[in-house]
Amino acid sequence: MSGERFLVTGGLGCLGAWVCRLLVADGAAVTIFDAGADDRRLRLVLDPGQLSDVELIRGDLTDAAQVSAAVGAATHVIHLAALQVPFCRADPARGAAVNVTGTIHVLEAVKAHDVRHLVYASSAAVYGPPESYDTEVLPADAARLPSTLYGIYKVANEDAARVYWLDHEVSSIGLRPHTVYGPGRDQGMTSQPTTAILSAVRGRSYHIDYGGTLLFQHAADVAATFVRAARAELLGAAVHNLGGEVGEISELVEAIVAATDFDGLTHGSEPLALPKDFDDTALRTALGSPPVMSLADGVAATVESFRRAVAEGRPLPDLD
Ligand SMILES: NC(=O)c1ccc[n+]([C@@H]2O[C@H](COP(=O)([O-])OP(=O)(O)OC[C@H]3O[C@@H](n4cnc5c(N)ncnc54)[C@H](O)[C@@H]3O)[C@@H](O)[C@H]2O)c1
Repeated sequence: MSGERFLVTGGLGCLGAWVCRLLVADGAAVTIFDAGADDRRLRLVLDPGQLSDVELIRGDLTDAAQVSAAVGAATHVIHLAALQVPFCRADPARGAAVNVTGTIHVLEAVKAHDVRHLVYASSAAVYGPPESYDTEVLPADAARLPSTLYGIYKVANEDAARVYWLDHEVSSIGLRPHTVYGPGRDQGMTSQPTTAILSAVRGRSYHIDYGGTLLFQHAADVAATFVRAARAELLGAAVHNLGGEVGEISELVEAIVAATDFDGLTHGSEPLALPKDFDDTALRTALGSPPVMSLADGVAATVESFRRAVAEGRPLPDLD
């Protein structure tokens, strides 16, 4: 839409690439702020003709001046850049610097440049294991009981956003994805379902380490909700759980077999320590019903995208 200038931090990541795809299709001006140099997810997710419509600023969230300069020209900011669970576990201080101090730099820049509204990625990891709760379907205000450093950093960001609203009227919406899958998802604890889909397309056997259920969310749907939240005429510091389709890992594998005829996937039995399902009533009330692809449709769409990528020579992650 005319006049919109979006800054997408972490735009070279999975969700970032899908957000950029949607925004470019809408005709918005899009600038990515990302420390990475590898644009393979963008080249996988965007149509080739869309790539030149995205500007890339190489910068690090831990550098306040770089963040401020990037935010300065934006009308909308979608803050996605972060280190995922395994990277925070491997280097906690760097994880805190990027995920917590980096988010403070974004909030400070949004305040300094009077950007109307910030949308940022929180996570299901703010919650504890399912046995910590007396319901399987967690509302947004359920107690946050993170069991990873990454989850603790996301809790800190949610609370920082709330204080920036109270102290400075910096308006924000935090969205908590659960298990994002689809093209571009290739790192983090819950990326294995997507690796399983790619493995099947490639005809390579693959073992998913865990079992139980996950709340599956196709990256295109999640990106659409981030864009909708960024355009919302809302004030405050809301945080919302993102819905999706709850599915057993065995159902994921069945959907992959149905879409590919490949039968070389196995999975473990222990579930991940994540909530089983989210109540997203508050999000629906605030933003309207978000798009939700069924698991079968999302797997079929992902298979189709990977097959097209193979045929067109687009970059795909290596399978070890
Ligand atoms: N993918 C999921 O299932 C999921 C679930 C819950 C929450 N989230 C959150 O959503 C957001 C996006 O997730 P994703 O799957 O697209 O992540 P991703 O790992 O694919 O991408 C993250 C991007 O952030 C960039 N980045 C890392 N450190 C940086 C730094 N210091 N400065 C600037 N850029 C930096 C990386 O280069 C990368 O391009 C993250 O905040 C993540 O924590 C994702």
